[in-house]
Amino acid sequence: MPAHVKPVAGPHVDARRPPTRGQVRPQAVAAPPLRTRDVGRSTNVRWHQATVQRADKERMLCQRGCVLWFTGLSASGKSTVAATLESILHQNGHYTMLLDGDNVRHGLNSNLGFSAEDRAENIRRVGEVAKLAAESGILTITSFISPYRADRDAVRARMAPGDFLEIYLRVPLALCEQRDPKGLYKKARAGKISNFTGINDPYEEPTGAEIVLDPYDEEHRMYSPEELALRIFDHLTIQQYLLPVPSTASF
Ligand SMILES: Nc1ncnc2c1ncn2[C@@H]1O[C@H](COP(=O)(O)OP(=O)(O)OP(=O)(O)O)[C@@H](O)[C@H]1O
Ligand SMILES: [Mg+2]
Repeated sequence: MPAHVKPVAGPHVDARRPPTRGQVRPQAVAAPPLRTRDVGRSTNVRWHQATVQRADKERMLCQRGCVLWFTGLSASGKSTVAATLESILHQNGHYTMLLDGDNVRHGLNSNLGFSAEDRAENIRRVGEVAKLAAESGILTITSFISPYRADRDAVRARMAPGDFLEIYLRVPLALCEQRDPKGLYKKARAGKISNFTGINDPYEEPTGAEIVLDPYDEEHRMYSPEELALRIFDHLTIQQYLLPVPSTASF
């Protein structure tokens, strides 16, 4: 029973007599109310402390929870590399969650457009969801263009040091436009899409990304999505986000 909850007398307890051994003295005075606060527009809220701790979950999952935040132009390969990374992590016995820009706009953020304000709210909500997941020990992968530095930095600022890893797919506009898997660059060039990042909306490059992935090696050979994902996997292993998984498990 939590400390603030006062026991009440059961039917076997006579409140007028002093309690004998094993009996509980009835309380005439109610416990003081728990303190609440206002957060933004949420009034009278109180943080409820969980009993199962993050460290307990991380021990169970053999990993340290974090947010792997992919950023880059449309068609830079965020969704492709993120999904490849998730497969590699899964095959190695790790527990993941993938929040993809287009998918989140099918539900949670379907009421948001592409104005600067809506993009900021899109990233804020995803950042909060990702934070909750990471704090539950999950390797949380997000793939959003997230073009504004301030929006990405605001997500980082909400998290503990080491919980947020920014992964910049530094793919030049020309290559993205050449790939154009959804035909969006073509539409944007034809003036059919406004606010399209790289064409008529800005993309602000990260200045302190933990991982920067260029598309080509020194011989101008293009890295495959698997090679790029393995670079991230190696980083996570070296930085001890991934702990040894018992060899009896099969996935
Ligand atoms: N080496 C590579 N790495 C990543 N993607 C590649 C590579 N080579 C070719 N591609 C292709 O480039 C395209 C990248 O599209 P993808 O949807 O992953 O980009 P995105 O960054 O998620 O874009 P958006 O922001 O529009 O969702 C895919 O069609 C993918 O097959
Ligand atoms: Mg995508």
